[in-house]
Amino acid sequence: MRLDKYLTAMGIGSRSQVKEYIKKGKVKINGEILKKPEYHVDEENDIIEFQGINLEYSKFYYYMLHKPAGYLSAVKDDHCETVLDLLDVTPKEGLFPVGRLDKDTEGLLLITNDGILSHELLSPRKHVDKKYYVELDGVLTKEDAEHFQKGVDIGEDKLTKPATLEILEGNDKAYITITEGKYHQVKRMFRSIGLTVTYLKRISMGSLVLDETLEKGAYRPLTESEIEELKCNR
Ligand code: URA
Repeated sequence: MRLDKYLTAMGIGSRSQVKEYIKKGKVKINGEILKKPEYHVDEENDIIEFQGINLEYSKFYYYMLHKPAGYLSAVKDDHCETVLDLLDVTPKEGLFPVGRLDKDTEGLLLITNDGILSHELLSPRKHVDKKYYVELDGVLTKEDAEHFQKGVDIGEDKLTKPATLEILEGNDKAYITITEGKYHQVKRMFRSIGLTVTYLKRISMGSLVLDETLEKGAYRPLTESEIEELKCNR
């Protein structure tokens, strides 16, 4: 893999940032400064340092999981299977799910060991969009969409932040986009208008969109551009 690509995959920065770092002499290969972004990294043998830090010890991993119902969004649990039980990867130590989906919720879950990215995606200050597909036990109206846009009382101190509701055919299904992550938020928002969520699936989080070719329970590493885009949201 090219050096610039490798450093981006390691979470050092965007492709263009990384090229700058290389040109400025911040990267050493086997103890020598190397200013060639096109250098082909020997991942098994090269010792790569960024600003004096050996990257072998600070690798970041990013996986997209299509969470099935029935799994807890946790690292470990004494009674239930967790989303980490679905991952057969090395190394697994240090990986955790970014945010929580309810046990019965399906869809996009990012699993990583990058605490900074996770913090930024979950920070209430960042208002990262989360889009869900939802099925309900009753029908939605245009007024419900307007109501959600104004914010909903779900029993917290404040109304929810504006949410976008895109009502689908039959009016008992919709896409909802929220920018917060309160406990059971989507279910509580629909509950507040007298409806029960019968099925919930997360479709996207920020720039990251569920890869629909992933079967339920399947996962894959994020692509370089998916990682880069998520970091650009910072
Ligand atoms: N809102 C919910 O109610 N449940 C989820 O799993 C995610 C968002």
